[in-house]
Amino acid sequence: MQRNGGGGVAGGQPWVLRRIRLTWLSFMLFFILVFFPLIATYYLTTIDEAVGPDKRLFGPRPGGELCEAKHVQDLCRIRESVSEELLQLEAKRQELNGEIARLNLRIEACKRSIDSAKQDLLQLKNVISQTEHSYKELMAQNQPKLSLPVRLLPDKDDPPLPPPKSPRACRLRSCFDYARCPLTSGFPVYVYDRGAYAWAERIDPLVRQAFEAAVKTNIYVTADPSVACLYLVLVGELQENASPPPPPPAELEKQLKALPYWRADGRNHLLLHLSRQSVTQNFLYNVSTGRAAVAQATFLERQYREGFDLVVSPLVHALSEPNFLEIPPQVPVKRKYLFTFQGERLESLRSSLQEAPPQSFEEEIERDPPADYDDRIIGTLKAVADSRLDQVLVEFTCKAPRASLPTEWALCGERDERLGVLKVSTFALVIVPGDGQLVASAGCGMRLFEALEAGAIPVVLGDHSQAAVHQHIRWSEAAIVVPKPRITELHFLLRSLSDSDLLNMRRQGRFLWEAYFSTAESVLSTVLASVRTSLQVPAAPIREEHAREIPHKAGKLAGTDANLADNGDLDLGPVETEPPYASPRFLRNFTYTASDVYRAWNRAPGPFHLFPHTPLDPVLPSEAKFLGSGTGFRPIGGGTGGSGKEFQAALGGNVPREQFTVVMLTYEREEVLMNSLERLNGLPYLNKVVVVWNSPKPPSDDLLWPDIGLPIVVVHTEKNSLNNRFLPWDAVETEAILSIDDDAHLRHDEIMFGFRVWREARDRIVGFPGRFHAWDLNHQSWLYNSNYSCELSMVLTGAAFFHKYYAYLYSYVMPMAIRDMVDEYINCEDIAMNFLVSHITRKPPIKVTSRWTFRCPGCPQALSHDDSHFHERHKCINFFVKVYGYMPLLYTQFRVDSVLFKTRLPHDKTKCFKFI
Ligand SMILES: *[C@@H]1O[C@H](CO)[C@@H](O)[C@H](O)[C@H]1NC(C)=O
Ligand SMILES: *[C@@H]1O[C@H](CO)[C@@H](O)[C@H](O)[C@H]1NC(C)=O
Ligand SMILES: *[C@@H]1O[C@H](CO)[C@@H](O)[C@H](O)[C@H]1NC(C)=O
Repeated sequence: MQRNGGGGVAGGQPWVLRRIRLTWLSFMLFFILVFFPLIATYYLTTIDEAVGPDKRLFGPRPGGELCEAKHVQDLCRIRESVSEELLQLEAKRQELNGEIARLNLRIEACKRSIDSAKQDLLQLKNVISQTEHSYKELMAQNQPKLSLPVRLLPDKDDPPLPPPKSPRACRLRSCFDYARCPLTSGFPVYVYDRGAYAWAERIDPLVRQAFEAAVKTNIYVTADPSVACLYLVLVGELQENASPPPPPPAELEKQLKALPYWRADGRNHLLLHLSRQSVTQNFLYNVSTGRAAVAQATFLERQYREGFDLVVSPLVHALSEPNFLEIPPQVPVKRKYLFTFQGERLESLRSSLQEAPPQSFEEEIERDPPADYDDRIIGTLKAVADSRLDQVLVEFTCKAPRASLPTEWALCGERDERLGVLKVSTFALVIVPGDGQLVASAGCGMRLFEALEAGAIPVVLGDHSQAAVHQHIRWSEAAIVVPKPRITELHFLLRSLSDSDLLNMRRQGRFLWEAYFSTAESVLSTVLASVRTSLQVPAAPIREEHAREIPHKAGKLAGTDANLADNGDLDLGPVETEPPYASPRFLRNFTYTASDVYRAWNRAPGPFHLFPHTPLDPVLPSEAKFLGSGTGFRPIGGGTGGSGKEFQAALGGNVPREQFTVVMLTYEREEVLMNSLERLNGLPYLNKVVVVWNSPKPPSDDLLWPDIGLPIVVVHTEKNSLNNRFLPWDAVETEAILSIDDDAHLRHDEIMFGFRVWREARDRIVGFPGRFHAWDLNHQSWLYNSNYSCELSMVLTGAAFFHKYYAYLYSYVMPMAIRDMVDEYINCEDIAMNFLVSHITRKPPIKVTSRWTFRCPGCPQALSHDDSHFHERHKCINFFVKVYGYMPLLYTQFRVDSVLFKTRLPHDKTKCFKFI
């Protein structure tokens, strides 16, 4: 309990008693020192006068003859003894003075040790309550473990389930064998190879090639049919003008039944028909597929089983990747034409199509004469064009119409010509076929996706058709659906929409197109994800980057110097008392396919990955943590609140306790790095330090790393790349990452405050150095700016907190072109991260506190100061804008300080932090 060993309460006497004695002593001393000399002087002066002016006692040393007189001798003796006594008293006085000083020192020491004992007591109480807390939590979690039923693999000769009365009645619940797809099975998919069925050879080679390439890279595909949940058969599309026509329905059925895992009824099979052409093949129309589901771009109402069959998008980019840089920018909102439409009704082609095989399909359409509004539509749109109120482009005949269904509006011209028109259209009209039998058609799908690709907002005229993956994608966020009877109000409606709404739709359309429909891989992933989501099976967990450790020698005792930490004399949190605590992972596996389906599908990055944690998890209401859901919470003052002292003792806030990981990128600056690491000693809530060793040269052998009482993981990298800073290393076990440059100098209280702020804004970048993007009026482009400014839009990742979620997105989801640019310039990775987070969240970053010394004085200059560095950053910004299609960064005008910063407090209260 007692910090200063010798300075305690000696002799067991209370210090109050000692003080009284001291006062008495001082009084005595005063008496002796002041009065005694006065009296003595008076006495001696009297003697002097008696012996006359020549024989003064207090003159020069008295002569021998003077002492001959007896009484004078007496006086001399007295004088000697008195002066001796005076000398003794003087010595005594000095001794006592020394004693007083010593005692004063002891008093001070006692006071200090009382204070520190009080502090220790507080901390001990804290530890005890923390331990109690953890113990209670452990007990609470000690519920009996619930596990899934044992997985039984169905036999090949399972008795077939009784089939539904009509094949049209198939739904997942009645036709799908859930037993093959337990929630934790991971959704294995078996894909039949082309040797398994005869008509595979007639499939368009480009479609087949694209499909096979996509299958190769898909992580759900398994080679073991006995464990598969889903069996995938590519059925089309067949080659154009296939010389033997598609097999007749009976023959197709026979071939399907012969598939090795068909098991009499085709349960858990998905027949996938990918169309590359606008001409619609629908040879499965009259084929009984049993319990197998069908995924294709064209469906008649009679054949479509809602919730079971799947509408897919046409395969536009079969093998090539779309070039994102050729996509027109999303701004300005208003383009040359308000809306455009080009198409032709192919009455002339009707007879030739009728001869083509699946005849019954065509007949089906014929039998139901379309009661459509097309004439009225044509009339109204032409009137709008003639009125010249707005520039519009509507053409109802074209030079080279593409083949299509008879009731459908055929596409005109070549793809490039069509895209050329769409790029200058604000809206693109999609008139769905007049006949109500058609639930979805490849032609309409093509129009829709070409519009999305070119950034023209689709306006779908007719509300009875289904767009691709409509079970999960909310199309109303990207396209406007107008019932045909509203055609006369269409112009008014389109004119009334605000720019911000239009840009939102355009951005959402771009996201949908890019994530789900832009390549063969994304189309296949989308089909599988849609089935998987319907079955509530979670996605495969996203990849972590394995951290290959470089062994290193620790041992240099890190400084315990208080100045090093510079806390402003505050305990910022538990240091020795809190063991390492990794953030819990994968708590919401089944949420994304249950209550969170909408967000998973309609917000970036889409439903394709399972993340261990995201910054978007919902927050409990405050009372829940006191009424049964308190696991992990550390409320301030146990829930009663408080200022500085209580605040420093608990994390508080709205989310459970956690720690953070420091990720430090370094390149051949060992001395600087060692100093930076040493400064982290004693930092509360720090879980681990990951040093990304960005140099091919390993650390020097004789380098002694500081021992800061925490693991320092030094990670080997394949190449020197700034992107390594954001790799989602498996060694990072917390949600919070503090990314710092090896030469950044942050004080502990700044880091602590940043961490606490980040906990309340988990989806943002929270950090220290702010920058902004400024518009260059001369060149009509963006400039990077680091001048003082009251508005900022970026926080540099040389010293910032962000969620590990964004490390996954940066490394695996963000367009590759951006990472390539970072590598090319060896610059801009922090700008790229700010773009990414603002793009996903549509929120600016948060800057915390002002007092901040970024670069360490005397360190070798970082490369960030020359002109070319700035020049590159301008270029980066403008390039990234091109890739995203718009400028994602947003401005912010505030900075965050702690609650009691600059508040006058009563003396018994303390601030949250001394300086911030
Ligand atoms: C196909 O349709 C025709 C006429 O609608 C019908 O006669 C025939 O049985 C159907 N074939 C199959 C395999 O269902
Ligand atoms: C959630 O998924 C992850 C990754 O597949 C797995 O490790 C974890 O055990 C799952 N959690 C539950 C509760 O099923
Ligand atoms: C920053 O401010 C200085 C002085 O006002 C100005 O000369 C300079 O051009 C500014 N830099 C940028 C990038 O705007």
